[in-house]
Amino acid sequence: MRTAVYPGSFDPVTNGHLDVIKRASRIFDRVIVAVLVNSAKKPAFSVAERTQMLSKVTQGIEGVEIDHFNGLLVDYCKKVGATAIIKGLRAVSDFEYEFQMALTNRQIYDGVDTVFLTTTSEHMYLSSSIVREVARYGGDISKFVPQELTEQICRKLIHEEKMAGSGEVEK
Ligand code: PNS
Repeated sequence: MRTAVYPGSFDPVTNGHLDVIKRASRIFDRVIVAVLVNSAKKPAFSVAERTQMLSKVTQGIEGVEIDHFNGLLVDYCKKVGATAIIKGLRAVSDFEYEFQMALTNRQIYDGVDTVFLTTTSEHMYLSSSIVREVARYGGDISKFVPQELTEQICRKLIHEEKMAGSGEVEK
């Protein structure tokens, strides 16, 4: 049984992430998509929302499980018996940081290898932050995220933006 962990913020999951999950599921018997809890970034969606969205869009993809983790990624990999960490590479600009993380993880624990998968060219420019930005201002995100999530994502972010906007007016 070959287990891989696909870690990330998934704030929210995009079509690019889903593409990587599907590709990983063809290579590994078990792919655990693991949402980082203790991030320095302040997420727009709670861990519960992010895992719920991931569960919804990965339903029916064989061998895929959704979980969340705290602390070091390699400790989580040890805990679940994973021998690979999946990372999606979009552009060369991703590489330097990803390379640094891969080498750091290997220094800490040599029992897990990082596997880089490239997304399809149509998803190369995509990121969760771009999706949040477009959704916040009422733009069309239907090409960026799984169709069944568009409403949920827009509803939350437009609402947040309205709240932030009304705060400004009151000042
Ligand atoms: O989607 P993101 O935010 O780019 O994912 C980053 C993530 C979760 C892969 C990375 O921050 C991570 O692995 N965090 C866990 C803490 C850790 O193990 N750090 C040491 C590796 S450099």
